[in-house]
Amino acid sequence: MPKNEQSPIDDQAVDVVLRPKTWSDYVGQQKVKEQLRIMLSAAKGRKEACDHLLFYGQAGLGKTTLAYLVAGELGANLKVTSGPALEKVGDLAAVLTNLEKGDLLFIDEAHRLNRMIEEVLYPAMESRKLNLVVGKGPGARTLALDLPAFTLIAATTRASLLSGPLRSRFGASFKLDYYELADIEAIIRRSANILGIAVDEKAISLIARASRSTPRVANRLLKRARDYAQVHKTNGISEEVAKKALTLLEIDVLGLEPYDRRLLEIIIDKFHGGPVGLSTLAAALNDDKGSIEDVHEPYLMSIGLLARTSSGRVATREAYAHIGRELPQGKLL
Ligand SMILES: Nc1ncnc2c1ncn2[C@@H]1O[C@H](COP(=O)(O)OP(=O)(O)O)[C@@H](O)[C@H]1O
Ligand SMILES: [Mg+2]
Repeated sequence: MPKNEQSPIDDQAVDVVLRPKTWSDYVGQQKVKEQLRIMLSAAKGRKEACDHLLFYGQAGLGKTTLAYLVAGELGANLKVTSGPALEKVGDLAAVLTNLEKGDLLFIDEAHRLNRMIEEVLYPAMESRKLNLVVGKGPGARTLALDLPAFTLIAATTRASLLSGPLRSRFGASFKLDYYELADIEAIIRRSANILGIAVDEKAISLIARASRSTPRVANRLLKRARDYAQVHKTNGISEEVAKKALTLLEIDVLGLEPYDRRLLEIIIDKFHGGPVGLSTLAAALNDDKGSIEDVHEPYLMSIGLLARTSSGRVATREAYAHIGRELPQGKLL
């Protein structure tokens, strides 16, 4: 890359640069931070491995970042794997036998661990034993290997899908919530600073409101606004530039994407505002239930556009207003 290139950090490297490296860089989530730091400092004081930790919450809220901060705080190695990567018992056995004393094992997407793997994980978490079945048929026997003291950190977007026995083996669970607007603004300000781009306060506020209360989205929108500013050779990111960049991405003031708006439109136009069952909605959207439940609904519910009732999904009055439909008579929610 020539020396005078405008941006010396490429798009993907940016994500690494923007990831908070210290507790003070990790904006918001005060309660989680406080509770964690007490646990960590107590474990350090006793010179023991910290209890197993579970981080759960929507994608992009900072679970992986938190795992790295824990590792930094403990001065420990973080070995990273994920639920889908651990297919066979042998995969997990290989990971576990490679752990050294004090290591942290990070399992992302823990809700996708299969039953067989979970069965091996329980004794490993509880009594640091790796039970392996050697051989087949009547001659098969169980081999119990001792594991070093390690800490499992699991992350999931779907804590409800973790089996009860697995969930109960964590010493502490931390739920990451959507961020306050002011926190998202602080994150954008910090990122802009690191990237060396001038962003108007009004642009920061606009991008923050479109960021779905999620740090990863905030950073992504900032990067896209930076692209826009660079291509159009504007001087930094003004409110105008931010607005145009968001319009180009078809993201509205509340951070809704075309898919989210379509979801609401379908409930309103095809199902009289609901209630409509998830399966019916999924069929109408030609999508699977999981991605609606996991990715789209939580944010729509958090901003009050969608409600879940016992008889199905309902578009709220606010949804009618946002989508621009007249409110039907007698609408309750
Ligand atoms: N509390 C925070 N403060 C500042 N930036 C954050 C925070 N949480 C997350 N981020 C940013 O958002 C990105 C996504 O976070 P990540 O930890 O990967 O989320 P998750 O693992 O929950 O999907 C990170 O790269 C980081 O730059
Ligand atoms: Mg992650």
